[in-house]
Amino acid sequence: MNKAGTFHIVPIGEKLRTAVQALIDDSWAGPYIAVNGRLWDTRTMPGFAALDLRGIIIGYLCYKIHDGECEIMVLESLRENAGVGTALVERTKETARDAGMKKIAVMTTNDNIGAIRFYQKRGFVLRVLRPNMLETSRKIKPGIPLIGNDGIPLRDEIEFELEL
Ligand SMILES: CC(C)(COP(=O)(O)OP(=O)(O)OC[C@H]1O[C@@H](n2cnc3c(N)ncnc32)[C@H](O)[C@@H]1OP(=O)(O)O)[C@@H](O)C(=O)NCCC(=O)NCCS
Repeated sequence: MNKAGTFHIVPIGEKLRTAVQALIDDSWAGPYIAVNGRLWDTRTMPGFAALDLRGIIIGYLCYKIHDGECEIMVLESLRENAGVGTALVERTKETARDAGMKKIAVMTTNDNIGAIRFYQKRGFVLRVLRPNMLETSRKIKPGIPLIGNDGIPLRDEIEFELEL
């Protein structure tokens, strides 16, 4: 339970998977996430959900462990500015540390000013900038729009990392 006693974080087990997946598919145009020219299937990824006192899903995060580090693959808060995103990241950090990981990484896009702000304020630092990578992503995931948040052209991948 968070400090205010308004939500708690649980692993995405069998019971929650279908509901979380429906939210992912809706927000990210299907189960696949394009990162660095590859598609990743969120349906098989471990993760966490934030549940409010009525058991309603108010956020989720899926990650993968590869090449000795943990990478956040999707994160969405459905009740913003209430600590949900931070709690999901904190829980993932604990899990990654317990699994012996030294770093946690995340990719976002140039239009996602909110995420760029969010991660940097939580200690993540720029690791890689992939200019125009979304052109490649559109070849493997057609339907990624040309224009992203706030009318900003959706072009570049920005990868952040955090030392654990
Ligand atoms: C980026 C995102 C995950 C952040 O989630 P969130 O739940 O709003 O995050 P938090 O509530 O933990 O933190 C957001 C702000 O609310 C503030 N906050 C937290 N609890 C609060 C409370 N009880 N009252 C007031 N403000 C609060 C935090 O201090 C934080 O501000 P800061 O960044 O200036 O410190 C969310 O905006 C989102 O889902 N965006 C769309 C999807 C997306 O872009 N995902 C990332 C893709 S890589």
